[in-house]
Amino acid sequence: MGTLDYLKNFFGDKNVASITPSSEFTVKKVCQYIPFEKDLTIVEYGPGDGVFTRYILEKMTKDSRLFAFETNDGFVKILKDINDTRLKVYHESAANVAKVLEEEGVSTADYVISGIPFSFIPEEPKREIVKATSKVVGKTGRFLVYQTSKHMVPYLKEAFAHVDTELELKNIPPMSIMRAYQET
Ligand SMILES: C[S@@+](CC[C@H](N)C(=O)[O-])C[C@H]1O[C@@H](n2cnc3c(N)ncnc32)[C@H](O)[C@@H]1O
Repeated sequence: MGTLDYLKNFFGDKNVASITPSSEFTVKKVCQYIPFEKDLTIVEYGPGDGVFTRYILEKMTKDSRLFAFETNDGFVKILKDINDTRLKVYHESAANVAKVLEEEGVSTADYVISGIPFSFIPEEPKREIVKATSKVVGKTGRFLVYQTSKHMVPYLKEAFAHVDTELELKNIPPMSIMRAYQET
């Protein structure tokens, strides 16, 4: 798992957008406010080879659930090899989150964590994903976005009352982390 898988998938799919997984510093900083002691419904967009997925599974309770949306075939195969009944992997775009969760009978998620390269996604579909996610997390959930720039801040502000940002320098390249939510 790691850079080799990224390189292999990066050359066939521009949406992979990275040649190496996020650092453990980024993973910990993005997840630092998640109350893993509670039973949670978590959704992940763009898990890649599962650097966040494995960390979340390690931390979450036995009754928590994790729904992962990944578009790259190679990464989906790697993710489907993770042997954990709390994890469901969908070979689907994050754009289909509402439809898939509805089919699963899941009405809301406590946390949606996104590593998808939003800068590659055109304006309207990007707004649609943010809007759909704001519905999925409702009033009390959180949308956690990590990106190599803060360009998502204005889009998040269109759909969420609050957007906090942080920077993780121990990542190549440095990572901007955004937390979007309605209620404090
Ligand atoms: C920069 S990589 C991040 C991978 C991993 N989460 C990490 O932190 O190392 C972006 C990932 O998002 C996936 N992706 C791109 N567009 C997507 C979409 N619309 N829906 C779901 N996954 C997507 C890519 O295939 C890739 O695995």
